[in-house]
Amino acid sequence: MRFDILSVVPELLESPLNHSIMKRAKDKGLLEVYVHNLREYAEGKHRQVDDYPFGGGAGMVMKPEPIAACIRHLQSERSYDAIIYTTPDGPRLDQSLCNRISMFNHVMVLCGHYKGVDERIRETFITHEISIGDYVLSGGELAAAILVDAVGRLIPGVLNDETSALFDSFQDDLLAPPVYTRPAIWEGKAVPEVLLSGHERNIDSWRHDQSLARTRMRRPDLYEKYERGG
Ligand code: ADE
Repeated sequence: MRFDILSVVPELLESPLNHSIMKRAKDKGLLEVYVHNLREYAEGKHRQVDDYPFGGGAGMVMKPEPIAACIRHLQSERSYDAIIYTTPDGPRLDQSLCNRISMFNHVMVLCGHYKGVDERIRETFITHEISIGDYVLSGGELAAAILVDAVGRLIPGVLNDETSALFDSFQDDLLAPPVYTRPAIWEGKAVPEVLLSGHERNIDSWRHDQSLARTRMRRPDLYEKYERGG
């Protein structure tokens, strides 16, 4: 799977996608991530990527021309399954959307900055808009990194034990159960007996009960969805 990320601050994406599981996915050739600096597509001496908003008001707006030039350049090289814009006013990213995006081969991600992009870019090119939550970041780069991480780990072969993503929180609208490792007693606190029993069916049933209880307590909204059957 290939991601092309369009940004005015490409440096922000250097570290998050070059370590741990994302690095392994790239090393295995399962994930490619290219970051494009929109300034390189801007015209003029100052390579300006933003401008004042028509109608006045605070903040700057991302100019349409450099974004269009970059998108069209990439589209001339391959076709894209999705062109995503990261913005706090988009629909909230969730696991089911991550699952769907992980089926795509080529995805472009435009990182919003300043007050956002000129609306005509959204109308002309954007196929999906994504918010990572109801708070405002100083730019869409961290949201793009979260998207690539959450989607990248779902690509078959990226995780060591391929089945492990199947049991993540949210894959079945339930939160994951608690986990423990050695020592079996730490500072007087013992690991639940059943996990030491070696009895697989009892362990599965305990984990399922824990998932249900956790979800009901912490995320009644998810629990309701689970009870309705998704
Ligand atoms: N850009 C700024 N805030 C954002 C958010 N919450 N989600 C996605 N992109 C953003």
